[in-house]
Amino acid sequence: MAMAGGGASLHLINKPTIPPMACAPGTIQLPEKIRNSKVLVLGGTGRVGGSTAISLSKLCPDLRILVGGRNRDKGAAMVATLGGNSEFAEVDIDNVNSLEATLNDCDLVVHAAGPFQQTHKCSVLEAAINTKTAYVDVCDDTSYAQLAKTFKDRAVAANVPAITTGGIYPGVSNVMAAELVRLARSENKLEPERLRFYYYTAGTGGAGPTILATSFLLLGEEVVAYNKGKEIKLKPYTGMLNIDFGRGIGKRDVYLLNLPEVKSAHEILGIPTVSARFGTAPFFWNWGMEAMTSLLPMEYFRDKNKVQQLVQLFDPIVRALDGFAGERVSMRVDLEFPNGRNTIGLFSHKSLSVSVGTATAAFALAVLEGSTKPGVWFPEEPEGIAVEAREVLLKRGSQGTFNFVMNKPAWMVETNPKELGLGIYV
Ligand SMILES: NC(=O)c1ccc[n+]([C@@H]2O[C@H](COP(=O)([O-])OP(=O)(O)OC[C@H]3O[C@@H](n4cnc5c(N)ncnc54)[C@H](OP(=O)(O)O)[C@@H]3O)[C@@H](O)[C@H]2O)c1
Repeated sequence: MAMAGGGASLHLINKPTIPPMACAPGTIQLPEKIRNSKVLVLGGTGRVGGSTAISLSKLCPDLRILVGGRNRDKGAAMVATLGGNSEFAEVDIDNVNSLEATLNDCDLVVHAAGPFQQTHKCSVLEAAINTKTAYVDVCDDTSYAQLAKTFKDRAVAANVPAITTGGIYPGVSNVMAAELVRLARSENKLEPERLRFYYYTAGTGGAGPTILATSFLLLGEEVVAYNKGKEIKLKPYTGMLNIDFGRGIGKRDVYLLNLPEVKSAHEILGIPTVSARFGTAPFFWNWGMEAMTSLLPMEYFRDKNKVQQLVQLFDPIVRALDGFAGERVSMRVDLEFPNGRNTIGLFSHKSLSVSVGTATAAFALAVLEGSTKPGVWFPEEPEGIAVEAREVLLKRGSQGTFNFVMNKPAWMVETNPKELGLGIYV
C-alpha cells in the first residue's frame, strides 16, 4: 500500500527545495526515504508517458518505474528501453478494479493516458485518492482540469498530494507565469495587467496520435479568455498574431485555443487579461485548422468518433510531413504592465516529445520530494509547487533547451534588431 512507503506521506517530508546531492553526472540523488519509490506511468507506452518514464529513470535510476497501458507488446518494448528497474502493468483506466489494484502498490501515478478532452470522469485521480497514491496528470483540457479540482477536499481528507496540468504546456508554462508575476510584484513593485501564453510546435512535435486528436477536439471548444477581468468567449483558431519566439524558432503565427492555464492563471495569479495561442508548422497546417473551424460546425469536433476518423485520415500525412517539419517546441510567456513595460519567459527545445517528458518528470519529482500539499492543485498554486521549489522545477524542466530565458524584456530575446532610439540598434 502506498501509504506506508511514500504516497500520502510524501508531503510530510516537507523539504521543497532539496538540492541535487553529489551523484553520477546527469542524475539526481533522492533522499533515502523516497529513492526507491514506485511510480506508475499511465500511458507509459505512448509518447508523452514513455518520454516521462525515460526521463525519470535517467534522472533517478533507483526509482521503480511501472509502465501502464493496455498493449503488452508496446509495454515490453518500453520496459526493454528502460531496463532493470522497470516493469509493465496491463491496466485500462476505464476499469476501476484493475486501476486500483495496480495503484495499491505505487507511491505516485503519472497520468498521461489521454486524450483528456471530452472525458467526463477523473477515474485515475479518484483511484489515486481511494488508494492514497500521489498524483500528477498532463491534462491539457479546461473542463477536465476544473473537474479534477472538484476532488480537492477528498484529496485533502485522504492526505493525497495531486497536481493537474503538470506537463510542459500547460505545466512548466504555468510555473514560468507564476514566477514572472511573483518577481514583478516583489522585486519591481509592478502590478501586471496582461498575461499571454504563446506556444509553437512544429508538426506534431514527435508526439503520438493522441495529440492530433487533441488538436481536433480543441476546435470543438469555445475559447475562454479574460479581458480586463471579464470572461469572454471566442472562436477557436482565430485572433492570429505573429510572435517572435527568439533564436532558433523566429517569428510564427499563433491562434487562440481553449487551454486550461488561461482560467487557472487568471484566477490564481489575479491577472485581469489572459489568453493563450498556439501555432504549428508547416504554415498550411494552420490554414487547414482555420479552414476546418470555418467550414465544420463546432459540434463535429465534439464527437470523439468523428475526430477519430479525422485522425485516421490525417495521421499518415502529418507523420510524413513531420519528417520535414522537425519537432521543435517553443513557449513564450508575456507579462505586460500598464506603463507599457513587459517581461517575458522563453523556452525552446528541439523536440516536444523529449521536453514534455523532462517537464513531466520535474513535476513527478517535486511531488515525490514533498513540494505539494494534500489536495488537487494547478502548478502555479503555491500549494501545488511550493514557491521555494519553483526554481528547481524550472531548472529540471528546462533541461535540454537551446534557449531558456526568464524575466527579460521582449526586445532582449527577439530576433529582429531593435532601435533603442537615436538610431542605436541592439
Ligand atoms: N500538458 C502537456 O504539456 C501535454 C503536452 C503534450 C501532450 N499532452 C497530452 O498527453 C496525452 C498523451 O499524448 P501522447 O502523444 O503520449 O499520446 P499517445 O502516444 O497516443 O499515447 C497515449 C497512451 O495512452 C494509453 N491509453 C489510452 N487509453 C488508455 C486506457 N483506456 N487505459 C490505459 N491506457 C490508455 C495508450 O496506451 P495503450 O494503447 O498501450 O493502451 C497510449 O500509450 C494527450 O492527451 C495529450 O493531449 C499534454
